[in-house]
Amino acid sequence: MRRTLTKNRMGWASEQLSPVSGMFVEFCRSGLRAEDDAALDIGAGYGAVTLAALRTGAWVIANDLADEHLNEIVSQAPDGDRPRLTIKAGRFPRGLHFESGSLGAVHASNVFHFLTGRQFEEGLRAIARWLRPGGRLFAQAASPYQAAFAAFIPEFERRLAASEKWPGWVAKVSEYSSHRQRSQMPRAIHLLDDRTLRRAAAAAGLAVERAWLYQREDLPATLRLDGREAVGLVARKAAPKD
Ligand SMILES: C[S@@+](CC[C@H](N)C(=O)[O-])C[C@H]1O[C@@H](n2cnc3c(N)ncnc32)[C@H](O)[C@@H]1O
Repeated sequence: MRRTLTKNRMGWASEQLSPVSGMFVEFCRSGLRAEDDAALDIGAGYGAVTLAALRTGAWVIANDLADEHLNEIVSQAPDGDRPRLTIKAGRFPRGLHFESGSLGAVHASNVFHFLTGRQFEEGLRAIARWLRPGGRLFAQAASPYQAAFAAFIPEFERRLAASEKWPGWVAKVSEYSSHRQRSQMPRAIHLLDDRTLRRAAAAAGLAVERAWLYQREDLPATLRLDGREAVGLVARKAAPKD
């Protein structure tokens, strides 16, 4: 099984590592070896990425809104990895608190599109604060270029051309999407693209290393459109000398 329905109408959790999640795991492997240099997985779902990051020897904090998801992660963690796993239930961004500079990496896969523009902005500022210099943010989100949102693309591109701040905000998914899997989507969604992610991350003080559109391998055929269905972001907390 490659995707499992979330227990709270928040789409699907993937068991397959996306390119962005793979980069996060490799970053953990290459140097996060201390409790005070932990990796945070926001909206961890059933924990496929948290568990992969734990296997590298890193200390990992798994966050989710749903306790049921977090309990599942704890039960899946091998005994040897469990001492390095912390779970934190709460709604990002306001429900999470960390010391400034205390995290080595942050991963957020398929979570940012559940946030309003204001929550997203606030969240990026929080992440920039929590990361230590040289720490990285790895994020993946849904883009508007999905079959389910084909009817929204002209409106999205009009807003993008007009330089609107949050061109992918869809207040009522039902206005644009009649996709049969809509019942598993939230009522509003914030579809994101590379330009918007790049601008928002830079505004929060992060140095953007890469922002790009791609197709997730685990995306169902019914959502595939043109190879730009997902957006990825890798950004760095700049060191003072950068
Ligand atoms: C679509 S699933 C993605 C799970 C996993 N990260 C993946 O990529 O397969 C979204 C997960 O994020 C959680 N979530 C949604 N909004 C959140 C928020 N604001 N703070 C924390 N978790 C959130 C949901 O409970 C759900 O488990």
